[in-house]
Amino acid sequence: MGSALALNIAEKGFPIAVWNRKPGVTRAFHDEAGELAERVIPTETHEELVAAIAKPRAIILMVPAGEPVDEQIAKLRPLLDEDDVIIDAGNANFHDTDRRVRALDDVGFLGIGVSGGEAGARHGPAIMGGGEKALWDRVSPILEAIAAKFEGEPCAAWMGREGAGHFVKAVHNGIEYADMQMIAEVYGVMRDGLGLKAEAIGETFARFNEGALQSYLIEISSIVASAADTHTGQPMIDLILDKAGQKGTGRWTAIEAQHLAAPIPAIEAAVVARNLSSRVAQRRAGEDMFGAAPMEIPADKVSDEMLERALIAGKVLCYAQGFDMIAAASEQFGWTLPLPEIAKVWREGCIIRSAMLDDMAAALAEDEDRNLMLAPVFARHLREGHVALRELVAIGARYGHPMPALSSGLSYFDTMRTARGTANMIQAQRDYFGEHGFERTDGIEDSHGPWHGHGV
Ligand code: 6PG
Repeated sequence: MGSALALNIAEKGFPIAVWNRKPGVTRAFHDEAGELAERVIPTETHEELVAAIAKPRAIILMVPAGEPVDEQIAKLRPLLDEDDVIIDAGNANFHDTDRRVRALDDVGFLGIGVSGGEAGARHGPAIMGGGEKALWDRVSPILEAIAAKFEGEPCAAWMGREGAGHFVKAVHNGIEYADMQMIAEVYGVMRDGLGLKAEAIGETFARFNEGALQSYLIEISSIVASAADTHTGQPMIDLILDKAGQKGTGRWTAIEAQHLAAPIPAIEAAVVARNLSSRVAQRRAGEDMFGAAPMEIPADKVSDEMLERALIAGKVLCYAQGFDMIAAASEQFGWTLPLPEIAKVWREGCIIRSAMLDDMAAALAEDEDRNLMLAPVFARHLREGHVALRELVAIGARYGHPMPALSSGLSYFDTMRTARGTANMIQAQRDYFGEHGFERTDGIEDSHGPWHGHGV
C-alpha cells in the first residue's frame, strides 16, 4: 500500500522521499519505479528521510495500525519541527488517532482513512481526512491530486477534528463487511439452494452489476466466482476455505456502535458471521451431529429478480445504518461530520463505491437528519425490495440457509416502520423487578405500575 501510494504521489508530479524499515525494499522499490524514479528519493534512516524533505515537511506513515504507528512517531518526532506534519494513512483505531492528535503538541498530526486497496492507493483511493483543518488544508492539494475522481471531483475531504477521518473509515469498513456478507448469503442460496455452478453464479452477479446494485463489490464477486484455479482448473472459489479473516476495523465499528447506542445490526451481524466462520471445527462437529443446514431449495421458489431486489433492499439498509451511526458520532463527539460529503467521497476509489452513493449524497444534502431509508429514492427501493427480502429470509429459515446480515437488515426495516413496538413489555418488567419507572402514553403522571413495591 505504501509503495503504491508513493508511486501515485510521484506520478502526480510531487517529489517524494521514501523509507522502509528494510533498506533492500526501498532500493528495490526505487529500481522498479521506472520513469517515476527520478521523483523518488530512497532513504535508509529516519534522519536521511527527514533531511530529504522540503520544509514544512509532510510525512505519510503507512504501517500496521497500533504500536508500529507509535514507534514511528517516536522516532520521527525529535527530528521534526513544529510546523511539520505526520500523516497516519493506515487503518488506525480512531481512539488512537484522537490520543495522538492530543498528545503531539510539538508536531502536527493528521489521521487519514485511505480506501481502495492496493490498486486504489496506486491509481486513486478515497481519502477521509481527520485532524486540524489548517493542517489538512496544507496537505490537501497533494491528497486531492492522488485521490480518485468522481466526474472530476476529488474523492478526498476533511471529515473533522481528531480521529474523525479514521472513524469515518471504520464505518466505511463496517458497511464493507455488511455488503460483503449479504452478497455471500445470496451466493450461498445460489450455490447450496439452487445448486448453481460457480461460473453461473458469476454470470448472475455480472447481470446484477448492470442495475441498481452496480458496485465494486458486486463486480469483483462476479470476477472471483468466475475465475478458474491455475493448479487444478476448477473454480477457484470452490477451493477456498470458508473462514473469513479480519483485521479489526469492522469489529471496532460494531464496538463503537454499542458505545454510541447507534443501531447497526447488519454490520454487527456481518462481524459475528466472520467470527463464526472461523469456528471451522465446531461447525464440522455441528454438521456431523445435526446434519448440514442448507438444503436444496425448489427452483420455483427463488428467482434472480428476488435475489437482486433483496440485495438492493439489504444494501440500502446497511448504508442507512452506517450513516445513522456517523450522525450519532457527529453529535456525541461534537465533530459536525459532513454526511453528504462522506457519501460523495465514497462514490469512487473506495471498496464500497457503488452507483447508489451519488443518490445518497443528494439525499443527505437535502436532509442530513433523515434516515436514508426515508429518502424518496431509497424508500422506493425498499418498497419494491422488502417483499423480496422478506421472501428470501423466509426461504432461508425454511431451508436452513443462514442469513444473518439480510435477516437483521429486514428486522431493522420492520422495527423502523413500527410506530408501536413492544418495549412497553421491557419497561413493565424493568419496573416490576427494579422500580425503574416508565413513561405512560395517556399523560397520567404516574411512572410505576400497580405492582410497585412487589418486585424482587
Ligand atoms: C479499504 C479496505 C482496506 C482493507 C481492510 C480489510 O477500504 O481499502 O477496507 O482497508 O481491505 O482492512 O479489512 P479486513 O481484513 O478486516 O477484512
